[in-house]
Amino acid sequence: MSSDWQQNEIVIVGAGLAGLFVALKLSPTPVTIVTSAPLGKGASSSWAQGGIAAAIEKGDTAFAHAMDTIAAGAGIVNAHIAHILTSQAASRVEDLLSYGTPFDRNLEGDLLLSQEAAHSARRVVRVKGDKAGWAIMKALISAVRAKSNIQVIEGYTAKKLATKNNAITGVHCWTGKGQHLFLRSRNVVLAAGGIGALYKITTNPKQANGEALAMAAKAGAYLADTEFVQFHPTAINADTDPAPLATEALRGDGATLINKNGTRFMANLNTDAELAPRDIVARAVFRENRDGRGAFLDCRDAIGADFETLFPSVYKKCRDAGIDPVTEPIPVAPAAHFHMGGIHTDAFGRTTLNGLWACGEVASSGAHGANRLASNSLLEAVVFAARVAEDLSQNTVFSTASKRNKKDQIEEIDRAKVILSNTHRKDIKEMRELMDHYVAIERNAQGLKHALARLTQMATKHRNHLTLSNMLTTARIITISALMREESRGGHYRTDFDHPRKEWAHRTYISLEQAEQAARDFLKPNRGSMQ
Ligand code: SIN
Repeated sequence: MSSDWQQNEIVIVGAGLAGLFVALKLSPTPVTIVTSAPLGKGASSSWAQGGIAAAIEKGDTAFAHAMDTIAAGAGIVNAHIAHILTSQAASRVEDLLSYGTPFDRNLEGDLLLSQEAAHSARRVVRVKGDKAGWAIMKALISAVRAKSNIQVIEGYTAKKLATKNNAITGVHCWTGKGQHLFLRSRNVVLAAGGIGALYKITTNPKQANGEALAMAAKAGAYLADTEFVQFHPTAINADTDPAPLATEALRGDGATLINKNGTRFMANLNTDAELAPRDIVARAVFRENRDGRGAFLDCRDAIGADFETLFPSVYKKCRDAGIDPVTEPIPVAPAAHFHMGGIHTDAFGRTTLNGLWACGEVASSGAHGANRLASNSLLEAVVFAARVAEDLSQNTVFSTASKRNKKDQIEEIDRAKVILSNTHRKDIKEMRELMDHYVAIERNAQGLKHALARLTQMATKHRNHLTLSNMLTTARIITISALMREESRGGHYRTDFDHPRKEWAHRTYISLEQAEQAARDFLKPNRGSMQ
């Protein structure tokens, strides 16, 4: 295998909203972005339908938005972070407008705001109904392409961080065909997205496979809240991978959830009915399907004939699946959608490793707690990307050496295995099924231990294959954290501990070493509970 090498002051891993925003905010400082897919492809941000939450309507406040964020997070949101998130929302929306994002406006020219679940006000800015992610990314990609200080390397996936004395020294990247590139840098920003693709049913692209989390953990960084995975209640149930989303904004505009008897099952479960917090709606949809009653999003009255104009992306996805949402209810099922957990970061996106920052879904700043509020994810990406850029502009560590260290590189290339064989694909399929069955919307100790045992066997088998080892490391850490938290809270629901417990009303932090020790303990025969 051949290898290449570059010296860079700042490397950004990932070209979704967070990665591009860091690069733009750092301009004119030279930066290198490395991304596995061509710009705009393979980033969850481009697929986001909802929009960006910001308290900009008259009478609404950043404080009220923070309170909604904290309430949705079920007792473990970091309040300081939530207030930063919501108080900087309006300025970041201004930034996005200045980069050319065509947010929807009313006839008077004011931004049009829509309602989403668990928000106490209309505060989501959108583009053409359900095209916010795509439109924002289009605007930012043009802005990035116009900047000569931003070098974009496409087609390389970062798979391993190089470190020395608890500090980052570079990133090893590979193409799918095994071509290696080492980006030497003492300032690396991970903005590589989430973990949805570790699950069989997900709204995320295949690139969201948790590799960046594993890279950080293997390099020694702490992770946080990894047990908290959010399942979106209304993925279109059409047996496609990834599962297309039917945005929550449809329910914001009055669409209802019914079963095959036509019963509105959310009406009896929560005072906010279809607009209850996402975890509650997702569990209700899951149970209707599991118990054979079926779950459908009925948009016939609320959206009706205007569907194609108001929600063009969802309309197209429905038609592709042979469903006409104007005349028939859309069959829906929950799908892995967002990771509240991730690499532990502070208010400036700093991780516990020197020279490593993280932002966007891969990071866990404490903004979301146990359950993210709708349309806070793109917001978090831009708010904390801007703060990472601010921190980097003051704290970049400049390199002294610029000579290539050939010995290190050759060692890495020989050890790394990145090409996927049919056996690897088969095992990835099994891993995704295990996550879907046992580490999903409802969990219990027995199922989690079963998954952990099998994932651990697979991790041992694939320990020398970087891609598999990264994916399995993240899948195992999520499973281990879910086993540790013996209660139910937000997106983490344990059938064997089905209530919140006050001794667990806190965030969790875990290193890879601690996770491995916990795995050994959990897999000991006849092991009892953690408390
Ligand atoms: C949606 O449009 O329902 C998803 C938005 C989000 O995940 O915040």
